Amino acid sequence: MKRLITICIALTLSLSLTQAFTSISLAAELSNDDCVKCHTQPPADIAAQGGAHKTEVTCLECHEGHPPAVRDNIPACNSCHSDKAHYELKKCLSCHSNPHTPLVLHLAKDITGPCLTCHQEQGTQLQENKSFHTTMACTACHQQHAQVPQCVNCHTPHNNTMVQADCGKCHQAHKPLVIVYNDATPSKSCGACHDEAFNQLSASASKHRALSCAACHKEKHKMVPACQDCHSIPHSAGMMKKFPTCGECHNTAHDLNL
Ligand code: HEC
Ligand code: HEC
Ligand code: HEC
Ligand code: HEC
Ligand code: HEC
Ligand code: HEC
Ligand code: HEC
Ligand code: HEC
Ligand code: HEC
Ligand code: HEC
Ligand code: HEC
Ligand code: HEC
Repeated sequence: MKRLITICIALTLSLSLTQAFTSISLAAELSNDDCVKCHTQPPADIAAQGGAHKTEVTCLECHEGHPPAVRDNIPACNSCHSDKAHYELKKCLSCHSNPHTPLVLHLAKDITGPCLTCHQEQGTQLQENKSFHTTMACTACHQQHAQVPQCVNCHTPHNNTMVQADCGKCHQAHKPLVIVYNDATPSKSCGACHDEAFNQLSASASKHRALSCAACHKEKHKMVPACQDCHSIPHSAGMMKKFPTCGECHNTAHDLNL
């Protein structure tokens, strides 16, 4: 008897769907627990990585009705997500490629505009500080969401002692040509391009040798200090009137005459 019932149920389920679902009472009784009997993938996806689509909504809240009684039971994303710039985008599924795993994103390599719906600041920084990076798409660098690339994937360091961790001491990715740094920046990083200044200062016997490049050329690249910024005027007014520039007697900061 039990066996007979099982066969009956199996038969009913395997009947053509048209027959099964035109039975209004059966369609009305369709519950969230039934779906998995015929659809295995969506429930498995949701169980694994459904995120808020697992915890905040059910199958039937998204899929109202079922074919053939209801021909189109695929929801529009904006029936639940509205009132934010991000939700005005077209083709939600081009990035959220599987609605049952909404945070597993597929990002093409040429995306910029859609990122700005949430990250305006970075877009503004790139526009206000024009560089080659401004011409690149966000996802040319950020190939996966929230992943940050290494500069050295695309660039060779200025010398062979410099590593990825150094780049950020002088550069920011979204304004790479605005070069700012602090006093602790090692002089040998500057020396990568200014070997003459570096070698002169290293060979000098003056107290300036103890100072880093960045301690004198403060904060911004190409800033040149005046001797008086640190020494005021250590000599008599008479002498300074006769020899107005410090260099006349002291040569240069990197190579002081002592
Ligand atoms: C008895 C088996 C069965 C059950 C139970 C069932 N479905 Fe289906 N479902 C099907 C079949 C077969 C199709 C294909 C129908 C068609 O293309 O006309 C389908 C189609 C769909 C579609 C696709 C519609 C489209 O346009 O591609 C969705 C969505 C869907 N079902 C969701 C659900 C949900 C949600 C549940 C549970 C509430 C569920 N189904 C329960 C068999 C079932
Ligand atoms: C947040 C809304 C949402 C939830 C919750 C949801 N779905 Fe879907 N589902 C969709 C959308 C949107 C599509 C259409 C995807 C497409 O066009 O590629 C879809 C497609 C489907 C399809 C047809 C295509 C396929 O992947 O086989 C089935 C079947 C389906 N869902 C079943 C389910 C089941 C079963 C559940 C519950 C375990 C469920 N869905 C939960 C939104 C949802
Ligand atoms: C029936 C309502 C409903 C539909 C339709 C729906 N969502 Fe959602 N979705 C929600 C709710 C509720 C949440 C949780 C609250 C929130 O983040 O707004 C959510 C959250 C999300 C999240 C964040 C997930 C997380 O775990 O934080 C993403 C991404 C998302 N939805 C994308 C989509 C996309 C893309 C579509 C269309 C394919 C869609 N949703 C359709 C109701 C829906
Ligand atoms: C160009 C790719 C792209 C497109 C197109 C896209 N999204 Fe998103 N979406 C994202 C990214 C990236 C996130 C951030 C994910 C995270 O925080 O992990 C996101 C997050 C979300 C979230 C959750 C967080 C939040 O603050 O809202 C929802 C909901 C969402 N998208 C819905 C949608 C809807 C609805 C559409 C279509 C109207 C859409 N998305 C189109 C890329 C996209
Ligand atoms: C995905 C590859 C990629 C990554 C990652 C990348 N860049 Fe670039 N960058 C380029 C390309 C391509 C150019 C243009 C050709 C060139 O100058 O090498 C460029 C140019 C530059 C320029 C010169 C800009 C101009 O307009 O002249 C600087 C400075 C720069 N990058 C610094 C950096 C720094 C610092 C990082 C890390 C924070 C970084 N880049 C990360 C690809 C990349
Ligand atoms: C040339 C590669 C490159 C491009 C193009 C790029 N980024 Fe970045 N982004 C980075 C790097 C590297 C970091 C890490 C911080 C740094 O080095 O300045 C970063 C950091 C971020 C952060 C973390 C917060 C912050 O500002 O540090 C966000 C958000 C971000 N980028 C979004 C974007 C968006 C949106 C775009 C497109 C408008 C974009 N990025 C274009 C390389 C890039
Ligand atoms: C729906 C809103 C949304 C969209 C669209 C979005 N993001 Fe995000 N993004 C976030 C959130 C939320 C975080 C997490 C912030 C955090 O953890 O500090 C984040 C984090 C990031 C981070 C890492 C920040 C860090 O501090 O390490 C990067 C890089 C990033 N996003 C780049 C992008 C790029 C590139 C795009 C376009 C493909 C994009 N985002 C689209 C919301 C979004
Ligand atoms: C001590 C500061 C400093 C450090 C550290 C530094 N840079 Fe630079 N970088 C500069 C300066 C200054 C320039 C601009 C020279 C000019 O005006 O032409 C520059 C220019 C560049 C350029 C443009 C092309 C070129 O070679 O002139 C790229 C690319 C670059 N840096 C990448 C990097 C990378 C990658 C790192 C980390 C490995 C890094 N930089 C570390 C100061 C630094
Ligand atoms: C990537 C190579 C590079 C690095 C690294 C670099 N510079 Fe330069 N620097 C240059 C170039 C190129 C110039 C322009 C030379 C010119 O105009 O003749 C320059 C010019 C200067 C000038 C001269 C400005 C003027 O008016 O003559 C000073 C001062 C300077 N850099 C200091 C530094 C300091 C300090 C560091 C380390 C924090 C540093 N540089 C790192 C490439 C670099
Ligand atoms: C950023 C600050 C700064 C700048 C700019 C600067 N100096 Fe100095 N200088 C110092 C410091 C600090 C000492 C060491 C003082 C001490 O230890 O008594 C010093 C020492 C000296 C000494 C004594 C050297 C010795 O070995 O006894 C002379 C001479 C001197 N500076 C001349 C100059 C001249 C000329 C210039 C401009 C070309 C200049 N300085 C620019 C900070 C600076
Ligand atoms: C004590 C302060 C001081 C220190 C330390 C210092 N400089 Fe200078 N630098 C100056 C001053 C002042 C000038 C302007 C020329 C002069 O009067 O000597 C200058 C000029 C320059 C110039 C442009 C003219 C030239 O000589 O090429 C460059 C480039 C430069 N410095 C790079 C560096 C580098 C790289 C370092 C570290 C190795 C460094 N400086 C260390 C004070 C300093
Ligand atoms: C006419 C030559 C001459 C000129 C010009 C000159 N100095 Fe000197 N300076 C000297 C001599 C010689 C000494 C060493 C004797 C002494 O301590 O007075 C000296 C010493 C110094 C010392 C070291 C003082 C100490 O206590 O160790 C500093 C710092 C200094 N000069 C800075 C400057 C600055 C800054 C200028 C430009 C504003 C300048 N000098 C212009 C000749 C000159």
